[in-house]
Amino acid sequence: MQPRVALVLGGTGAVGGAVLAELARRGVATSFTYWRSAERARGLAAEHGQHAFRIDLADAAATTAGLDTVAAERGVPDILIHCAGVSAAPALADLGVEQWREAVAVNAHSALLACQWLARRAPPGAPVDVVVVGGLDRTQSLPLPVDFAATQGMLSAMVMALGHELGPRGFRVNMMALGMLDAGLSRSLAARRRKDYESFSALRRLGTPAEAARAIVWLALENSYVQGKVLAVNGGI
Ligand SMILES: NC(=O)c1ccc[n+]([C@@H]2O[C@H](COP(=O)([O-])OP(=O)(O)OC[C@H]3O[C@@H](n4cnc5c(N)ncnc54)[C@H](OP(=O)(O)O)[C@@H]3O)[C@@H](O)[C@H]2O)c1
Repeated sequence: MQPRVALVLGGTGAVGGAVLAELARRGVATSFTYWRSAERARGLAAEHGQHAFRIDLADAAATTAGLDTVAAERGVPDILIHCAGVSAAPALADLGVEQWREAVAVNAHSALLACQWLARRAPPGAPVDVVVVGGLDRTQSLPLPVDFAATQGMLSAMVMALGHELGPRGFRVNMMALGMLDAGLSRSLAARRRKDYESFSALRRLGTPAEAARAIVWLALENSYVQGKVLAVNGGI
């Protein structure tokens, strides 16, 4: 079997950084993308022997061109993990058009573009694993910022549809819906809201990026029959 090659979109995030560490621990050749966090990207690349690419995932044309560059320099990946995300406005009244567009572009459209790109570029018949990381599996009703929540709904519907469309080609496409972690995007929520999540969690604590990463990398490397689904890793919320 060919050694696997991973591409992580949003490798500089709290979750992305932990995913890079887990992929390194599992010996998977990995490239990753970043946007603003150039210094962290350099540090992670040096620490894990991985390759960093600067791509603005809010820009559709730049995303596809950037993915072409990754493929030209490091080969076409057969594992794609999307863990880039933004959540700009805590309340409806504060949500502007640009923030909405950015949330849709980074959280959802870039995941779609990457799948579309991979469907064009992956060799026919070769197995491909796509894991989209998000934060809502719709079995709960959660008080989330509306831009974030809406894009998570897009992701869960997208993996269902792509699971059917790309499954016959050997693609497994799934979403990992995380509960609240003690780092990353959740830090933008009010302390009171974070405390609520802790109390409602059956495990009575927030998760860690390392716990999230172990589950994400399991789904990317070990899964053989989960398809088009949203798996929740949230401490029992
Ligand atoms: N942390 C949590 O509690 C939590 C809970 C539930 C779900 N999640 C999910 O986990 C995923 C990652 O969250 P996180 O906590 O790791 O977030 P984070 O620490 O804020 O990281 C966000 C990542 O997205 C990248 N990004 C943002 N805008 C970008 C753009 N325009 N172009 C390219 N990259 C861009 C950032 O890159 P740069 O820093 O380089 O700009 C960074 O790598 C999200 O999809 C979220 O749904 C997280």
